[in-house]
Amino acid sequence: SLPVDSVQALAASLATSNHIPTRYIRPEAESEPVIISCAAEDEIPVIDFYKLLDPELSDAESSKLHLACQNWGFFQLINHGVPEEVIQKMMFVIEEFFKLPLDEKMLFKQPPGQLDGYGQLFVISEEQKLDWADILYFQTSPLHLRKIGLWPTKPSTFRDALDEYSMEVKKLSNCLLEFMAKNLGLDPAEMAGMLENGDQSVRINCYPPCPADKKVLGFSPHSDASFLTLVLQVNDVPGLQIRRNDKWFPVKPLPGAFVANIGDILEILSNGKYKSIEHRAVTNTEKERFSIAAFHGPNTNATIGPHSELVLEDKPLYKSLDYESYMKLFFASKLDGKSFLGRMKLNE
Ligand code: SIN
Ligand code: FE2
Repeated sequence: SLPVDSVQALAASLATSNHIPTRYIRPEAESEPVIISCAAEDEIPVIDFYKLLDPELSDAESSKLHLACQNWGFFQLINHGVPEEVIQKMMFVIEEFFKLPLDEKMLFKQPPGQLDGYGQLFVISEEQKLDWADILYFQTSPLHLRKIGLWPTKPSTFRDALDEYSMEVKKLSNCLLEFMAKNLGLDPAEMAGMLENGDQSVRINCYPPCPADKKVLGFSPHSDASFLTLVLQVNDVPGLQIRRNDKWFPVKPLPGAFVANIGDILEILSNGKYKSIEHRAVTNTEKERFSIAAFHGPNTNATIGPHSELVLEDKPLYKSLDYESYMKLFFASKLDGKSFLGRMKLNE
């Protein structure tokens, strides 16, 4: 990414200046309808991980999971088993890090041309619109690809917290992906093989408040490149919205739950049976919001493409590409809805 200024610093300066640079103003964000609904059918499904693991209840919960992946591409995960102290420790270090003065945060800024560190992603031109957020981004798996030097040392428990959090979340994601493989009629052991030493990165989002919250976006509309993404809301401030029938629906996170979403690679592998849904994050006028997104992919030797067993009767809808080239292309693009996945589509 190209270097951009800290949005936290910009937001703080608005107390006196009131001027939001035009690079952050998104006219399109205001014009698209947002549906505030209390109807149960507008809420993403809730999956109980504890039930998935219970031999008596697993089949029913697994069917629910299958439907959620086909019809929604999003679900909330409760009783996920990630220890409360691991989550609390992670939340603590995030809030402490973003409270540091700018010069201390900048000690861990993204080196030019790299993804890891404090900064921003997907900024590829001086003209493009910018997101109202500062982020921390780290590759956390495989272990040999960790760039530990860019992991903050303030607060002093930061590295420990991220290590423990990322390992726990990866275990959870692997397990969910094996259930999904089984639901798709694939061999869960084959999925486990793809996930061994699999790619995981963690993106920590800090969305400062914005006095013109309806004119900016915290996170541009996009779909994730991953197999599966697990997002945790750090404080109780909502902001995530998903696109459904061309309207935006706010997600109402349950306390302590993960919001899980299918990424493009799983849509591709399942030959379109599972959907990678476009989503975005909005800001608000009062409260800083934090979230942690953990992205899970296969190991770097994997090939991305429709699974051979799923194209016996249906023709393949997507191209195949090796995972490394695929991810390079992804990070060299600007976020623009599902346009990246579109580039993987075969002509009808
Ligand atoms: C995202 O991961 O796409 C957004 C996460 C969020 O801030 O809720
Ligand atoms: Fe996302």
